[in-house]
Amino acid sequence: MSETYDRGAVEDFGRWREFKPGMWAWIFHKFTGWVLVGYLFTHIAVLSTATGGDVLYTNTLQGLEELLVVRVLEVGLLSVAVFHILNGVRLLFVDLGFGLENQDKSFYASLVVTAAIVVASVPTFLSGV
Ligand code: HEM
Repeated sequence: MSETYDRGAVEDFGRWREFKPGMWAWIFHKFTGWVLVGYLFTHIAVLSTATGGDVLYTNTLQGLEELLVVRVLEVGLLSVAVFHILNGVRLLFVDLGFGLENQDKSFYASLVVTAAIVVASVPTFLSGV
């Protein structure tokens, strides 16, 4: 007869102090994936409603870029996109059986490279139009 263990619900985020790096990688990947889907819908909604000629279109985009909050959000978008891509490529390697023993290290590497790219992008995004 097999034994059963009551390990509690995986979905119990109140236990976040017990999470191992793999759990954080899973949470970050889900979060960034769905943020990208949300951005994609917003992006299409904005562009498809800025109709009425090339002047209105350009003014809409320039007006958005002039807002500091938009440029800060762009830095956020870059960070979720870069992390999702790097971690996604890492996951594909893991799925193929490469780097199974170094999963924590490769997750940390995704975070560090993401941080480096995002920090390097800040002057470009926040310097104004
Ligand atoms: C080079 C670009 C990308 C790579 C390499 C990539 C890679 C991956 C991988 C490997 C998974 C599955 C993770 C798992 O095993 O559970 C995944 C999940 C997902 N990705 Fe991407 N992705 C990319 C771009 C995108 C983009 C552009 C979007 C959105 C517009 C997106 C949205 C999602 C979503 C929603 C999930 C499912 C998250 C969940 O588990 O609920 N990804 N991605």
